[in-house]
Amino acid sequence: MKAGFIDKLIGRLGRIEPQEVQNYFLRLAEEKGFLETIFNAIQEGIIVTDSNGRITYLNEAACELFGLQAEESIGKRLDERVRGLDWQSLTHSGGPVSRDMEIFYPQNRFINFYIVPLVIEQRESAAGVADAGPRSATAATISGEKVGHAMILRDITQSRRTEQETIETERLNALTLLAAGVAHEIGNPLNSLNIHFQLMQRQVAKLDGAPRAELQESINVARAEINRLDSIVGQFLRAIRPTRPQLHPENINSVIDETVRFFASEIRDRDIVVEQELRADLPLLPIDRDQMKQAFYDVIKNSLEAIKRRGILRIRSDMDESHVLITFTDTGGGISAENLSRVFEPYFTTKTSGTGLGLLIVRRIVREHGGELAIESKEGKGLTLTIRLPHSDKRIRMLEAGAR
Ligand SMILES: Nc1ncnc2c1ncn2[C@@H]1O[C@H](COP(=O)(O)OP(=O)(O)O)[C@@H](O)[C@H]1O
Ligand SMILES: [Mg+2]
Repeated sequence: MKAGFIDKLIGRLGRIEPQEVQNYFLRLAEEKGFLETIFNAIQEGIIVTDSNGRITYLNEAACELFGLQAEESIGKRLDERVRGLDWQSLTHSGGPVSRDMEIFYPQNRFINFYIVPLVIEQRESAAGVADAGPRSATAATISGEKVGHAMILRDITQSRRTEQETIETERLNALTLLAAGVAHEIGNPLNSLNIHFQLMQRQVAKLDGAPRAELQESINVARAEINRLDSIVGQFLRAIRPTRPQLHPENINSVIDETVRFFASEIRDRDIVVEQELRADLPLLPIDRDQMKQAFYDVIKNSLEAIKRRGILRIRSDMDESHVLITFTDTGGGISAENLSRVFEPYFTTKTSGTGLGLLIVRRIVREHGGELAIESKEGKGLTLTIRLPHSDKRIRMLEAGAR
């Protein structure tokens, strides 16, 4: 379609033969159809209004973004169709305006829009249109008349979300540093406690009689607790330090086994049954054993805390063609839909002495292993957490050749 066709047509308006009119109409219709096809094919939303803010045109993308029907909207005021859009203040400057907005219906999206006044150049000549030949057109003065506005809408939801994720990662990094500092500081008094208990133990060994056995027993318990604290702090530090996991081929079942054994006394005390259904023929997985243990530790700890007393924790390992799956299902109190959406937020906890860091660290570890984490739960119906770890380094998957 040649540009300037309409200009030429207007120039020749007075000299068109009646039989030519039909041809021109066909060409105009064709041109309009052509432009409409293009406007509907582009991703940006486009809305054109007249000088009173009434919609004269909108493309499919604009309809979709605002949940509008084109036929119903033409001729209606844009600020009536799109509630909350202050058309008056957006257009009063007379120049182009660019802003962001959030749409809540039909879908929650972030939009950047750009409003430009539409100005149509008008040729003014005393002779009028009918006599306007090529010579008189060059002599005419040219002025602009504002006939409305064009609004161009761009969906920026994706980039906004990425921005949000970056902010969260930064928050998490600051938090990790702080936690690492605190954990590190705990190490020194623990060491000192350990040394003093060793000294006490030596003194106690010199005593005789009944008090000796009792003191000895207390010191043993205290030293065991110190060792436990020390190993938790160590594990914690290793897990949150922003280091890349050191991957070695490992048997994931043995990592599960080891972590469960860590809780042996707690499991016994709370009268909990841990059922392990571990698939024997799993391939060795390239994982950081300590980090993965930390992840399992946090997940199992949450389940034991949710069960409180008397219940079942079922741990299964299985595989499909690309991933090894480890699922933890408990019979605890589960979690409400509202809280479920917040469990990965730093500090989110429903426990009086919780840190709200556990699941966040679990997800980080799993992601750094190229894996995924999923949680399913109904309030009062327990919870299932699934960890998927890739067992083969396949970046793409070839599909079956289609039937000819
Ligand atoms: N197995 C579970 N059953 C019920 N709720 C859970 C379970 N695991 C996690 N949650 C919920 O997720 C929240 C966050 O867990 P987490 O990040 O480990 O922090 P914390 O355990 O310190 O509260 C918990 O406070 C709890 O509300
Ligand atoms: Mg926890």
